[in-house]
Amino acid sequence: MSDILKINERISIERVGDVALICIDNPPVNATGQAVRQGLQEAIEVLNADAQAQVIAIYAAGRTFVAGADIREFGKPPMPPALPDVFNVIEDSQTPVISVLHGTALGGGFELGLATHARIGIEGLRVGLPEINLGLLPGAGGTQRVPRLAGIPMALDMALSGRMVSAREALEKGLLDRVETGAPRDVALAAAAQVLAGTLPTRRTCDLATPKDDKALEDTAAMLRAKQAHLVAPHKIVEAVRAAYLPRTEGLAVERQAFIDCMQTPQRAGMIHAFFGERAVSNVAEAKGPARDIGKVGVIGGGTMGSGIATSCLLAGLDVVLVEVAPEGLQRGVDTITKNIDGAVSRGKLPADKRDGVLAALTPSLKMEDLGDVDLVIEAVFEQMDVKKDIFGRLDRICKPGAILASNTSYLDINEIATCTQRPQDVLGLHFFSPAHVMRLLEIVQGAGTAPDVLASGFALAKRLKKVGVLAQVCDGFIGNRILAHYSQTASYLVLDGAAPAQVDAALEAFGFAMGPHKVGDLAGLDIGWMTRKRKAATRNPAERYAGDVADRICENGWFGRKTGRGYYNYDGGAPVPNPQALEIIDAVRSEKGITPRAFSDEEIVDRYMTAMIAEAARVVEDGTAKRPVDVDMVFVFGYGFPRYRGGPLHYADTLGARELVARIQRYAQEDAQYWQVPALLQQMAETGKTFADLNKEG
Ligand code: CAA
Repeated sequence: MSDILKINERISIERVGDVALICIDNPPVNATGQAVRQGLQEAIEVLNADAQAQVIAIYAAGRTFVAGADIREFGKPPMPPALPDVFNVIEDSQTPVISVLHGTALGGGFELGLATHARIGIEGLRVGLPEINLGLLPGAGGTQRVPRLAGIPMALDMALSGRMVSAREALEKGLLDRVETGAPRDVALAAAAQVLAGTLPTRRTCDLATPKDDKALEDTAAMLRAKQAHLVAPHKIVEAVRAAYLPRTEGLAVERQAFIDCMQTPQRAGMIHAFFGERAVSNVAEAKGPARDIGKVGVIGGGTMGSGIATSCLLAGLDVVLVEVAPEGLQRGVDTITKNIDGAVSRGKLPADKRDGVLAALTPSLKMEDLGDVDLVIEAVFEQMDVKKDIFGRLDRICKPGAILASNTSYLDINEIATCTQRPQDVLGLHFFSPAHVMRLLEIVQGAGTAPDVLASGFALAKRLKKVGVLAQVCDGFIGNRILAHYSQTASYLVLDGAAPAQVDAALEAFGFAMGPHKVGDLAGLDIGWMTRKRKAATRNPAERYAGDVADRICENGWFGRKTGRGYYNYDGGAPVPNPQALEIIDAVRSEKGITPRAFSDEEIVDRYMTAMIAEAARVVEDGTAKRPVDVDMVFVFGYGFPRYRGGPLHYADTLGARELVARIQRYAQEDAQYWQVPALLQQMAETGKTFADLNKEG
């Protein structure tokens, strides 16, 4: 016999004899919002006052146990009871409390488990402390209870990496007591019976002492000072874990203060913007309609890009036909794909026993005719309009009706490409970023005639490939490369006017970019930009100051960056060092142009570069190339190494304010009124006080 008492809309108690089951039901991921916290506390208090309840078992309904605190509550006024207090009530319960975890028990969800007196994981469970990815630290006892159960190194590892830990590993490390199979409620009942029978021991985690390991704390603190000095949360994590030597009340107080400190940083706001932004980009009408089935994909081009795209599709379980024109090119493509797949195995992304099966799904071919039965073709040949047009004309004749025809072009006009087919409704752009099996961004470019189900298929493909799909409209460079083309000019102007390439790079790396623009250029190959500048030479606006002289001359020497060993830097093994001959070129260009070099502070470098980026980003939003500011932000976070903790260029712009940005542009315009123009949208925002966050809300 069982009866159910609803504590509130999220928490219920079910009585089965001497066992009391507490069920958490807060879809979609059972986050510990206010009602869950309140309900849990009340349920424990009710059951402690009830002599018949001999053991309490907490489990959750739906696809996962609790995935953490409710992130939407962050940054708002506190809504009691606080999570750590609720967990103390659970830990202090006189009646034994156990928990059954399934799915993903993350952050506050895992911390809930840690506060109970025994934890059962259901096969397939993954636990983790991912708060670091939100600019935070585990703030509900995780830094105090993990060290007690699994030691300081494991606590530091989990909290600093945010990685998911399998049920097996968690069991081995002492974070779980058992791993079982079955439905959460059944497992909870069985485990509760074992507690009653004395075969499943229970204890309070905070009664355990943290095993001493000062060396792990000191080594980690030193490593973080060297490598992550600019981030707040990692250092606070070490501080909080160190407090796990203290009794519970004092340790939790240190953790609480560290959590509050992190909560107040712009880094936390930036990272939470990125968390919701990653999800918001596919929350558009274009992603939601019916999509076409994609099981078999054709990739044309076995270069780095085509091979990366093919790898990504193979890793997602799709069949792939790789087409190249010459046998050597095809072999090179197959070799690159094999190397990529082997890399995925060695990095733990693909189980070793799956490797051969994944590679068997690849069909190399020298004949475009072999694409007759594929559901989607992604063309990834070099950027020349007539070549692309020829390919699309042939695809139109070869591919089955309803097949989706995509170009991976990074800037060419999808509409012009589509004119070579009788089916513009099936054509779209799918712009991957190199290396395509690693980078998470996918720009989904809508042509004038693209059918709604083809666009929706682009989003479905992004999801299947575990990528972040962002909708973009046709223009030269779409969202990312168009903005890049604009602000790259600033980097070149800074060098022409007096800064050294290495200074520009260092200033922007200190701002948080993974690599400065000159290092990126060297890595991507300086010849790419050179080709683009030559392509655009005929249509260049003569009123605009030319930014390419230095790069052109470096390329004329045959120095294309890393791949030739010379570029802005020299690559003779070891760390890159500034190329003295590139510096001579810069001096020569300056004197030819009559430029007297001046000094730039690192701050001014960052200000000019970021202002240029924001200005073009604002124009991209203004003319509808990007739907919303958040779409631009996610393009940069997932495709251009923009520091996640700054949220993206337009989230960052809000921290400066439109007025300040307009003032800066007007100031710079005194030197170069052609390049520095105030975007109408930014001007309007400066006048009305509107922010990019407001525009995101308007959708
Ligand atoms: N709070 C509020 N909403 C959340 C959430 C959370 N902790 N976690 C996920 N969601 C929302 C998502 O925004 C999404 O909403 P929409 O459908 O409206 O877009 C929905 O739940 C489903 O999420 P996903 O699309 O991500 O689903 P998934 O199945 O791909 O992934 C997941 C599920 C692995 C749990 C993933 O959502 C995730 O990693 N969540 C965040 C986990 C996390 O960071 N937890 C720590 C929170 S901070 C904390 O707990 C602090 C503390 O110590 C007290």
